Amino acid sequence: MKKKLSQSKSSKLNALLIEADTIKKQIRQETLNQNELEKKYFSKKGLFSILSKQMSSIPIEDKPMAGKVINHLKNDLKEYIENLSDKSFDPLIRQAKIDLTVPGKKPNVGHTHPISQAIAEITKIFERIGFIRVRYPEVDWDWYTFGSLNMPTDHPARDEWETFFVNQPAHPKKGKIVLTPHTSNGQVREMERVGKPPIRMINIARCYRRQQDVTHTQMFHQFEGLVIDKDINIQHLKGTIDYFAREFYGPDAKSRIRPFHFKFTEPSFEVDFSCHICGGSGYLIDEHSKEKTRCRFCKSGWHEVGGAGMVHPNVLKAGGIDPEEYTGFAFGWGIERTYTLREGLNIDDIRLLYSSKLNFLQQF
Ligand code: FA5
Repeated sequence: MKKKLSQSKSSKLNALLIEADTIKKQIRQETLNQNELEKKYFSKKGLFSILSKQMSSIPIEDKPMAGKVINHLKNDLKEYIENLSDKSFDPLIRQAKIDLTVPGKKPNVGHTHPISQAIAEITKIFERIGFIRVRYPEVDWDWYTFGSLNMPTDHPARDEWETFFVNQPAHPKKGKIVLTPHTSNGQVREMERVGKPPIRMINIARCYRRQQDVTHTQMFHQFEGLVIDKDINIQHLKGTIDYFAREFYGPDAKSRIRPFHFKFTEPSFEVDFSCHICGGSGYLIDEHSKEKTRCRFCKSGWHEVGGAGMVHPNVLKAGGIDPEEYTGFAFGWGIERTYTLREGLNIDDIRLLYSSKLNFLQQF
């Protein structure tokens, strides 16, 4: 009888041990936060509280052992809950007094360079009328840069491009290596890539020239348009220029082409866009005195952005295209120049764009 009694006492203790062990494991599976755990385990009806109430039914001789188990479990649960909140904080921060109501510090967020923004915008404008953006080397052979563009070696027209030459052995057929002074090197490369027209490319790339003043930098960007197909004429060129002017500068912008000379186009033109300050007139009229003064931004009503023309038959031939069957137009404009003429910018020194001055760049 005595033995039976002691067995039943042990089984109560055993049940307590098993339950304590279950609770200890259970808390480690919880996804609750510190407060919720505190409530679930230590409130009046909490799991730990219920378990500790079982102490009263534990036989007297097992009470010391049961007490130890309960105490041990309590410490374990408390420590676990406390550490759970600690884990998410650095010890240094934990020690410091944190005022969670203080507004956070905004991280410095940068943005793309204004010229990269212009490149993205120009690309989209031309893509909308079926041009494909391509990229050709910025370090290229003399052949693509000059030779194939109807400018044989030693032709004086090359001087205008104030070119940097790379100190490397020349190619037997393609000649010396240069830092491309214009994006026109993409013309014959595109003809070779496509083979048979139609061609509608927009080639945007860095260019390099030995020049440096308020309107020139040694590294700058150009975008080159090339369209080749049957029956392409000057009207297509002028229409494309007008379309770009409206899209990039606004619905009132106008363009004009003036006769010029490039070896790779015939006829050739300089392309101007109307000045947004004087609206293309070249004069400003004072509202009150009605006095007429010359526009200081353009001086003539127009800003030159680059060249254009109908692709020279020799260039088509160099690209393997029959000039009897196909005609085309091309244009090449400076991105810095085109961009800085935009309303509201009025940047009179393009070198600022590459000055790395944050107070300037952050305005864009
Ligand atoms: C050319 O480079 C011709 N390849 C353009 C062309 C293409 C004509 C296709 C016909 C057909 P030009 O040297 O004028 O032309 O340069 C064109 C534009 O590039 C200039 O009007 C200017 O906007 C820009 N540019 C030229 N050199 C610099 C420079 N050093 N810094 C900044 N922009 C420049």
